Amino acid sequence: MTFQLAGNEPEIYEKILVPLWFRRWADALNDVLALRPGESVLDVACGTGVTTRMAREKVAPGGTVIGLDVNASMIAKAKDLAAGQDIEWLEREASDSGLASGTIDVVMSQHGYHYFPDKPAVLAEFQRVLTPGGRMGVSIWDGHSPYTSAVCMAVERHISPEIAAKQRAQRQTPSADVLADQLGKAGFSEVRIVRQELRIDVPAARVFVPLHLGSMPIADAFDALPDDRKAALIEDVEAEMRPYERGDRLVYTDAVHVALGIR
Ligand SMILES: C[S@@+](CC[C@H](N)C(=O)[O-])C[C@H]1O[C@@H](n2cnc3c(N)ncnc32)[C@H](O)[C@@H]1O
Repeated sequence: MTFQLAGNEPEIYEKILVPLWFRRWADALNDVLALRPGESVLDVACGTGVTTRMAREKVAPGGTVIGLDVNASMIAKAKDLAAGQDIEWLEREASDSGLASGTIDVVMSQHGYHYFPDKPAVLAEFQRVLTPGGRMGVSIWDGHSPYTSAVCMAVERHISPEIAAKQRAQRQTPSADVLADQLGKAGFSEVRIVRQELRIDVPAARVFVPLHLGSMPIADAFDALPDDRKAALIEDVEAEMRPYERGDRLVYTDAVHVALGIR
């Protein structure tokens, strides 16, 4: 299971999902990581670079920031968006950064950890590149929100169980206990799992669902639906989300776990 975007999907992801979801989660991650001027940061699974650009702001003046992602289109979009900013970009696997040992003050990763096929290898890589006393912070969804549950149900009904499974997998994350165990086994000290909640505010389902699904790995399957099936899918999400309607917006609570540790 992974998260690969192609074509214009990274563009939609950046324009739609970053301001509504990911930039807000990036700021929440920094609330616990507390990046400081002058620090060196590695942002793993950086995607289009929302967290990487946030890190660049926080470690200035000075500091160094590296964004790493396995997906060429994500890295290409990240480079475009950060043109003129002093950020290094690496198109590599999370378990093999190629960086020198003991050179990074902070390793961070937002909504990427659950995709890594070999988590012990990735955590060993984080340990290797961190300076002694360096810190890591990994933020991942705490399961599904009311909105993403509604979308998965509607996708199952109107597209297929296989496509719904692919969409559900985007939020199949390790529990807080499993995360703590994995960090402990990897040798991190002062391990803490912090749960953060945000009140999410997105446009009405008829506007948001096509944009959201248009920036997901299942975009092609949604686009291929005939218009009446698309409309029926959106109506199902609308019905499920009625308790969360506030005027022409959907307002609901979403949550992440941030796994923190010190080398
Ligand atoms: C949901 S996106 C999150 C991107 C970004 N951190 C953000 O918050 O917007 C997940 C990212 O993980 C990357 N990814 C998945 N598996 C990876 C791996 N094994 N190594 C490096 N990056 C990976 C994907 O390419 C994708 O860009």
